[in-house]
Amino acid sequence: MITGKICGTGSYVPPRVMDNDDMAKLVDTNDEWIRERTGIARRHIAKEETTSWMAGQAAARAVEQSGIAPEEIDMIIVATSSSETIYPCAACEVQKEIGAVNAVGYDLNAACTGFVLGFNTAQAYIQAGIYRTILVAGAESMSHMIDWTDRGTCILFGDGAGAVLLRAQEGTPVRMAAHSDGKKGPALTGLSRHRKDWDLEEEEKNAYIQMDGQGVFKFAVRKVPEIIEEILEQSNVSLEEINYFILHQANRRIIEAVAKRLKTDISRFPMNLEEYANTSAATVPILLDEMNRKGMFKEGQKLIMAGFGAGLTWAGCLFEW
Ligand code: COA
Repeated sequence: MITGKICGTGSYVPPRVMDNDDMAKLVDTNDEWIRERTGIARRHIAKEETTSWMAGQAAARAVEQSGIAPEEIDMIIVATSSSETIYPCAACEVQKEIGAVNAVGYDLNAACTGFVLGFNTAQAYIQAGIYRTILVAGAESMSHMIDWTDRGTCILFGDGAGAVLLRAQEGTPVRMAAHSDGKKGPALTGLSRHRKDWDLEEEEKNAYIQMDGQGVFKFAVRKVPEIIEEILEQSNVSLEEINYFILHQANRRIIEAVAKRLKTDISRFPMNLEEYANTSAATVPILLDEMNRKGMFKEGQKLIMAGFGAGLTWAGCLFEW
């Protein structure tokens, strides 16, 4: 069977760092509260970098590591919901940046679930024999999506990008699952700030991310274990066979609760949210790149990725390194 093997990973995070003490200068919060409730210590915030530029940097690093010529890339998918421009899409900017002249590019918006859905979409193209080489990136500038006076949300997010390059090879097909529940959409919203017909004051108030924190927390803790079990069941693979569960990095307590529900040791749930906070669609590929560059992956290891977020959406997949 043909599947898309990861043959290169890359990431980019802005050098500008804001730690929890910096956040305490902006809103009524403190380092202890943020660490205890979320596990976050710092976040990287873009200055001049745009979302598509960060995606391009991450993509270039993934391509370089793979040794594959950019001209061989058939498709580029960028998962983002915070790109500064709607046109041209970030994926076309990435195409230009890396010289992938033969690729088709488009963006995919499914908030924090975006990268996993992009990865699954790419796998579907490869496993169907339509394309051979696909670049999937997750890139976000959450810093301009958040209200920096709202302590309930601004402490949670950061900026950055990650990318993987997939190449068709013989192997075990990726197993995937994905869901959404539009009725729960109001739990996590962010509006476009370009509608001219909206009441400006109302628009300003609602433009930034609005969130029912506890509602989203409960949703994640219930749905992530469920989708992992769903994927394992359809793959005939047991929980014990999975080397790592690479989850969307929103909150350490969410990841701990998922591990507990699955009765699985937390050491199999790598985390880097202490350093980067929640970079939405970028968390999973940034973590993948860090683990890859540390040499944590071995051929044939079984990995599960899962994402969750606005929509509400949640998705996952099981693949072999
Ligand atoms: N610093 C200090 N106090 C804060 C605070 C902050 N940054 N943010 C909220 N508080 C206060 C609240 O005002 C509240 O005070 P009160 O009891 O006087 O009313 C108290 O802390 C508890 O607030 P609560 O909302 O119950 O805290 P929580 O334990 O649910 O933690 C979140 C809040 C946002 C950290 C948590 O709900 C969460 O992480 N949810 C998931 C959000 C998420 O990951 N979203 C993205 C998904 S992709």
